[in-house]
Amino acid sequence: MRRAKRDASLVEGAVHAPLAHDSAVRHVTGEALYLDDLPEPRDLLYAFVRLSDRAHARVTRLDVTAAASSPGVAAVMTARDLPGENDIGPVLPGDKVFADGLVEYWGQSLFAVAADSIDHAREAAFRATVEYEDLPAILTIEQALAHGSFVLPTQVLRRGAPSKAIARASRRLSGRLAIGGQEHFYLEGQVAMAVPREGGGMLVHSSTQAPSEVQHLVAKVLGLAASAVTVEVRRMGGAFGGKETQAAPVACVAALLARRTGRPVKLRLDRDDDMIFTGKRHDFTAEWEVGFDDEGRIRGLELVLASRCGFSPDLSGAINDRAMLHADNCYYLEDVSITSHRCKTNTVSNTAFRGFGGPQGMMAIEAIVDAIARELGQDPLQIRRRNFYGRAGRDLTPYEMRVDDFVIPELVDELERSSQYQERRRELARFNARSPWQKRGIALTPVKFGISFTATQMNQAGALVHVYTDGSIHLNHGGTEMGQGLFIKVAQVVADELGVGVDRVQITATTTDQVPNTSPTAASSGSDLNGMAARTAARTIRKRLAACAAAALGGKAEEVVFAGGKASVGRRSIDFADLATLAHRERVSLSATGFYRTPRLHFDRERHRGRPFYYFACGAAVSEVQIDTLTGEYKVRRVDLLHDCGSSLNPAIDMGQVEGGFVQGMGWLTTEELWWDEAGRLGTHAPSTYKIPACGDVPDDFRVTLLHARNRQPTIHRSKAVGEPPLMLAISVFHALADAVAAVGEHRLTPRLDAPATPERVLLAVEELRARLGQPALREAAE
Ligand code: MTE
Ligand code: MOS
Repeated sequence: MRRAKRDASLVEGAVHAPLAHDSAVRHVTGEALYLDDLPEPRDLLYAFVRLSDRAHARVTRLDVTAAASSPGVAAVMTARDLPGENDIGPVLPGDKVFADGLVEYWGQSLFAVAADSIDHAREAAFRATVEYEDLPAILTIEQALAHGSFVLPTQVLRRGAPSKAIARASRRLSGRLAIGGQEHFYLEGQVAMAVPREGGGMLVHSSTQAPSEVQHLVAKVLGLAASAVTVEVRRMGGAFGGKETQAAPVACVAALLARRTGRPVKLRLDRDDDMIFTGKRHDFTAEWEVGFDDEGRIRGLELVLASRCGFSPDLSGAINDRAMLHADNCYYLEDVSITSHRCKTNTVSNTAFRGFGGPQGMMAIEAIVDAIARELGQDPLQIRRRNFYGRAGRDLTPYEMRVDDFVIPELVDELERSSQYQERRRELARFNARSPWQKRGIALTPVKFGISFTATQMNQAGALVHVYTDGSIHLNHGGTEMGQGLFIKVAQVVADELGVGVDRVQITATTTDQVPNTSPTAASSGSDLNGMAARTAARTIRKRLAACAAAALGGKAEEVVFAGGKASVGRRSIDFADLATLAHRERVSLSATGFYRTPRLHFDRERHRGRPFYYFACGAAVSEVQIDTLTGEYKVRRVDLLHDCGSSLNPAIDMGQVEGGFVQGMGWLTTEELWWDEAGRLGTHAPSTYKIPACGDVPDDFRVTLLHARNRQPTIHRSKAVGEPPLMLAISVFHALADAVAAVGEHRLTPRLDAPATPERVLLAVEELRARLGQPALREAAE
């Protein structure tokens, strides 16, 4: 594994330096404060939420009297007791703080208790009486499709005449793929602490990616003005999209109980409740019919996606849109239709998760390209390459955005060489010919991911910078830190702008009273947006300081250079701290805000046409696996990643994002399986039954390289967003597993493998393939 330098002492040229995460040391020593580590205020109460144990039912009786009189209880809160509104749906109504007479999934919140200890709160909550009248529940995508049960109307993105093109094509194929969901499994679970303030206001510490949204929703449920509520978050212990909307109900419950009791209230969900109560990545099905030529070039495609959204819309509209907008991945689709069903089910409302629907759309097209290759008996890499976007005439996405910064062909060539793909493919064939039960597979898959929120209005950010008279700098912006290294990147930008070391920049908590009306830190755009806003703020101060320096040193303001902790004109210079003191004496403001909005974006959601993305982030991966065809067990032997971070703001951080994103994606497609029983109860609600990748699952041979290419768009220092795209590099692991299964039939048939490719599924796919070949199951053959 390539190791980045861990030197945080750089004074100059902060941007592009591989600095360690600002909290790296504190993360491992335990000094970094997460919400639950904050000193607890006097009189703090602890909250517990009682969850429903029905998937779909009318609540015929909810009697909380016994809970209210239970030891240590200060307050009980139900849907009837809210001072403001109960609905906290982020885009459309549908998500309630407490179920109001109707339960729509197993694990929905019914009511909450605040007591002097968590144990007292929990004991009290289970003393309440809940009675239900069961209603029929729709649990799966198939059931929802059969009943026409949708949270939002079906969307169709069409270009050309796909059915005619398919009919005309010399070859045709159809298929189906099921793609599982994913639990976020952030290490720090959902948590909030609400502290009442003088005059009826509320301070809410919330582990959230969306402080402004939590602020507005807390104000809404309390019946307060937004200005009366302040939301603060210093850092999250991981979020991955799971704290974009899912933090709000937790914060609202804490705030409601704090308001009711006049005391601070903390709500921290335990792991099982967190997994049962909060939304996850959407599981999808993809059905397709494709027409292609003898070279494997796609001529026409009809793709039907369906996802399990759960009981409410939450962010499902945008997530399914993004799935549609990534169903091309790197491939030119001339005549195409992409249909997207947003299924309503009596399960938890699924939500944002790293990639935001993009990964599912990409899985669909990668399965299609792979199937074409198998049908033609060719190496899938060859077919992928033939379908890549190309020059004019082959450079328009189905939504008619021009792909004009497409680095994939060169990037894939380079990775093919550096990973020795062709040599290893031949070596694998020799291995497989000698090895009856162990089979090896390899796959190279590309990623093209659109950067920007598809909801254009969200692409904006603000920042606030102060310089103190001793030359130290206070930095605040609307972005939140969840471990991804946003704070250090933005601090580097500000330090660079003012020509000082990053150690002069004080990183502070995100809070809605410093920078207002911010977008959630999501869509990988945190550093693009907040980096630009912070640079603008720092630049404003620099211009004022330059005028002071010019007055003091002689020369023109435009000639003043800020570098090395000094402002200089020619050979004369003044220390940055002295300059700050001087400016203050001259009565010059040392504080500024900055604002940024991403240019060039427009998207017509009705017609599915426009430029929803500012640019694309690209990468490619080669994975090699070995499967045991007797047990389905497997090992990822080697992985080579090449990822485009543009001109990276911080290669050490980006390296961590690429490695971490890949491993998280690998978990999604291999071991992480969500399972609900027939009553709609989540069975996999703890690490005992839900398997995220462990250290031992990281590939033994893991070679990660960043491609340093300037972003064609003038982003902050020409960098590219990196948060989500690397997750999709893990699609190569899935296809390497499929390739190993295909080796059982000497690559003559397409394996039928759904995601996640658990050992069980790999084994079933081997046996199904052998059955198609007319061979006895290997297990029997071995007996
Ligand atoms: N990295 C860590 N360590 N923890 C996280 O929670 N979230 C991911 C990604 N990388 C996440 C992470 C997701 S879903 C997104 S959208 C981006 O970080 C958000 O941060 P950014 O916009 O600053 O990249
Ligand atoms: Mo990330 S799924 O956009 O929070």
